[in-house]
Amino acid sequence: MNNEYFIKADNYISELFDLNDAALSATQQSIEDAGIHDISISPSQGKFLQLMARLCGAKKILELGTFFGYSAIWLARALPPDGKLISVEFDPANAAAAQKNINRSGLDQLVQIRSGSALDILPQLEIDNAGPFDMIFIDADKPAYAEYFRLALRLSRPGTLIIADNVIRHVFDPTTPDDKKNGVLRFNQLVAENDAVSAVIIQTVGCKTPDGMTIAVVN
Ligand code: DHB
Ligand code: MG
Repeated sequence: MNNEYFIKADNYISELFDLNDAALSATQQSIEDAGIHDISISPSQGKFLQLMARLCGAKKILELGTFFGYSAIWLARALPPDGKLISVEFDPANAAAAQKNINRSGLDQLVQIRSGSALDILPQLEIDNAGPFDMIFIDADKPAYAEYFRLALRLSRPGTLIIADNVIRHVFDPTTPDDKKNGVLRFNQLVAENDAVSAVIIQTVGCKTPDGMTIAVVN
């Protein structure tokens, strides 16, 4: 079983469950048009996150790493009309592109994109009493994952669902730079030994590079 098999199976799942529409494909197209490598989650992962958000009845979701807004579209569509997704993006160009994609998707009332470092914005959210969030999705730069997790915990409550993308590939990929590898290793160790959460990692395969997602519930 090679990567080709996983891609075929993922495409089958996407077609079976009709995991594409105009807003999502326009967002994917905007990434292609920008000539940037698409590091968004896959369609089936998007649906997975959306189902997780619905399962925890999420009204307030926090996302770290908006990129072009693909995952934000999936998550925001799980929200009730008075819900809120705050999505943090370091790169202002990505944030602007994401805002366009969110507007085109008709989700601008539900989604607030905050451009800047999560290391500044999350403490500000705490000061502003923006939490607690029902669900937090960490999908930003890997070296600071452990810091993001600590800050995320401060914006959580018992039962908050914390999901983190890309927590396996950098552990095993010999071409991964040390700062990414160490960032992920530090994060994984912190989550595993942290009494504040109950967690596990689910491996992810499909049309994206094989990797893993942390699923953690705050105790
Ligand atoms: C990269 C980042 C991601 O969040 C991802 O899912 C895949 C790749 C990256 O920075 O290369
Ligand atoms: Mg990712």
